[in-house]
Amino acid sequence: MKEQIDSIQVGALAAIAAASDVRALEDARVAVLGKKGTLTLAAAGIKDVPKEDKAAVGQLLNAARTAITTALEEKQLALQDAADRAALAGIDPTLPARSVHVGSLHPLTIIRDQAISILRRMGFALAEGPEIEDEFHCFDALNTPTYHPARNEKDTFYFDSGKLLRTHTSSVQVRTLETEKPPVRIIAPGSAYRRDEIDATHLSVFNQLEGLYVDKDVSLPDLKGTLEYFFRELFGSDTEVRFRPHFFPFTEPSYEIDVKLVVKGQAPRWIEVAGCGMVDPAVFEAVSAARKDRAFDPEHVTGFAFGMGLDRLAMIRWGIKDIRLLIENDARFLKQFA
Ligand code: PHE
Repeated sequence: MKEQIDSIQVGALAAIAAASDVRALEDARVAVLGKKGTLTLAAAGIKDVPKEDKAAVGQLLNAARTAITTALEEKQLALQDAADRAALAGIDPTLPARSVHVGSLHPLTIIRDQAISILRRMGFALAEGPEIEDEFHCFDALNTPTYHPARNEKDTFYFDSGKLLRTHTSSVQVRTLETEKPPVRIIAPGSAYRRDEIDATHLSVFNQLEGLYVDKDVSLPDLKGTLEYFFRELFGSDTEVRFRPHFFPFTEPSYEIDVKLVVKGQAPRWIEVAGCGMVDPAVFEAVSAARKDRAFDPEHVTGFAFGMGLDRLAMIRWGIKDIRLLIENDARFLKQFA
C-alpha cells in the first residue's frame, strides 16, 4: 500500500506542477482528491488493511493528502500572480496617480457659518422665511410707506401677481413675530434681491443675515453690546466698531454699523457692514393687528433688530476687491479658501 500511496502522490504533484491554468489545476485536484479520485479510492481501501497496519497506512494517507493540498494551494497562488502580472503588462504602476480634486467651502459659506455659530452661542435660534414675499411682510408691516423708494419698480423685482423677491431679510422679522411669543431671539441668513446696477460692490442677488431680539426691557445698550461683541468675535478682539445714526422705517432709533478695516500699506477706512436699531412700535402694532392679540404689545415689550451683508463681511475678511468673484465659480479664486 505504501508504494501505491507514494506513486499517487508523485503523480499528483507532477500533474499540479504541469497545470498551466486554473482549469488544468482543478482537473488535477479532482483526479486525485475528487469523489473518485485516486487518493480517495486508496483511502477507501484502508478497510482491507490488517488491523495492526491501519494506523501506519492512515498516517501515510494523511501525509500524502497534506502534501497534495499544499501543492494545490501554492500553484493556485502562482497562477493568480501570473494572471495579475499579465493583466498589468504594459502598465507602469510606479507612475504618479492622477490627482484627486478635493472641494472646499465657499467663502460665503465659511463666513455665514462663523456668524451663525457666534450668534447661536449668544442664544439666537435660526429662523427662515420665503424669498418670494408679499408687500405686507416685506414693506407694510415694516412701516415702509407705499411711496418709499425701496418699493419702486426700479429697485425691486415684482411678479405680475404682485408678489416680489424680498429686498431684505427683514421680512423674516415679521414672519417670526406673527407666529412666536416673546421672548424672541432669532437670526435668519438668506438671499435678498435688488435691481441694482451690477458692479464691484453690487449684485442683484446678495446675502444677508437678519437678527431680532424681543423681550421685556431690551434696550439700546443690549443692541450695542451684542453687535460689538459679534464683530470682535468675527474680525478679532481689537476690531473697532462704530454706530452711525441712520434711518430705517422699521427701527427707531436706527444706526448703520461700520467696521474699521486696517490693511497693511493702506490708510485705515471705515466700512459699512450692517443696519440696526430698536424695533419701531409701529412694527409691533402691525403684527398685533395681523395676529389679533397683544402678545407683542409695544407697551410691554421692546426689541432690537439688525441686518448685515454677508458678502460684504466676506470681502472684508479676505480683502476681496470685487463681489462678482463670489459668484463666478473660478476655481483659481475658490481654491484659496481650501
Ligand atoms: N433691512 C435693512 C437693509 O437691508 C437692514 C436692517 C435690518 C436695518 C434690521 C435695521 C434693522 O438695509
